[in-house]
Amino acid sequence: MRSVVSANITSFIAILALLLHYSTCTFAIPILHPQDFLALQAIRKSLHDLPGSQFFASWDFTSHPCNFPGVICDADRVISLNLGDSTAGSPGLTGQIDPAIGKLSALAEFTVVPGRIIGTLPENLSQLKSLRFLGISRNFLSGRIPAAIGQLKRLQTLDLSFNRFTGSIAWEIGALPALSNVILCNNRLSGSVPPFVSQTLTRLELRHNNLSGSLPLNAFPSSLQYLSLPWNRLAGPVDRILTRLNRLNYLDLSSNQFTGSIPGIIFSFPITNLQLQRNKFSGPILPVRQVTIQTVDLSFNRFSGEISPFFSTVQSLYLNNNRFWGQVPGGLVKRLLSANIQILYLQHNYLTGMEINPTAEIPISSSLCVQYNCMVPPVQTPCPLKAGKQKARPTEQCVEWKGRTGN
Ligand SMILES: *[C@@H]1O[C@H](CO)[C@@H](O)[C@H](O)[C@H]1NC(C)=O
Ligand SMILES: *[C@@H]1O[C@H](CO)[C@@H](O)[C@H](O)[C@H]1NC(C)=O
Repeated sequence: MRSVVSANITSFIAILALLLHYSTCTFAIPILHPQDFLALQAIRKSLHDLPGSQFFASWDFTSHPCNFPGVICDADRVISLNLGDSTAGSPGLTGQIDPAIGKLSALAEFTVVPGRIIGTLPENLSQLKSLRFLGISRNFLSGRIPAAIGQLKRLQTLDLSFNRFTGSIAWEIGALPALSNVILCNNRLSGSVPPFVSQTLTRLELRHNNLSGSLPLNAFPSSLQYLSLPWNRLAGPVDRILTRLNRLNYLDLSSNQFTGSIPGIIFSFPITNLQLQRNKFSGPILPVRQVTIQTVDLSFNRFSGEISPFFSTVQSLYLNNNRFWGQVPGGLVKRLLSANIQILYLQHNYLTGMEINPTAEIPISSSLCVQYNCMVPPVQTPCPLKAGKQKARPTEQCVEWKGRTGN
């Protein structure tokens, strides 16, 4: 009897010890997958802290890599790698991104802080099938953006801005189905803009590159809210493309060679800032209702026709250097005098009149420029230097314009 009880107690203790052992093991971080361990070592070897950066100081491979700064694991795999000290003003890293990055096959997020990383973006990134966020901005990466990135079907954010990438934006990248943010501005990308198909794309920034050609009709999905394309060499019409983008809240197409008309409907989109200046747009501008966009810049184009009174609710309105004619709408003058319009630039057009009391006080917070039109400026206001010194357009130009337009 007694021996049976003691045997039972003994086995009970043994089981308890076993359970305790297991539970402590469960609470310890599992050993990092050897493939990830080797990849981290290779990545570490090809990068260095710039003077003043201490990021890698605590990367000691005799301790657990999942505790390294910038490394986040899930079980035995690295799921997030954020290289470099992310506190503002840290000098960042130098060196190259090792192709071994491709071995971190559970990686969902990969970022590098601004610094002096050189070389190319390894093709091996295409092996990271779980990657959702790729952000390496403000470094010195060069060469092409690998088309193989087009294999990252889950990629949502691609930010490679402020590097030295050349070549074109691969069609495969535009075809990625889950993209929401694409930020490739301030590189040296050339060739044409591929169609972006992701129905969740909200932000596309391609400004300051060398992109050319016209935009494909299906260039952007209607989910797009932020579109920035200035400082490229893009050409051709955009009217049919823009008409569908009714969720835009920011639109900058400035400093390109776009042509054709701008549909009046876009002035009813929820845009806060509309930059269309310095293109070859033409035709009349006909908003369908009162415009509530804060800043509208249509300057340095070939827009013509009369100025719509619906622009009186804009705060900064740049219509200068176009071919607008006719009277300046009274509503604009009224809103200017009540300081609701801060900037009203109408210089270098063919405007023929403006109803304003010559002694009216322009509010100190507001700027008006009307010089070089087909009228004597009704009030003397300081204009930007670029407007030149001539107060009015030569009469012969105005006569000739009148003959051509029948106005
Ligand atoms: C990178 O990819 C190439 C080709 O896909 C492969 O041969 C090579 O082994 C990979 N390198 C690493 C370090 O994974
Ligand atoms: C821009 O791209 C064209 C080819 O489309 C090329 O000839 C030119 O050198 C590029 N310019 C710059 C500044 O990279």
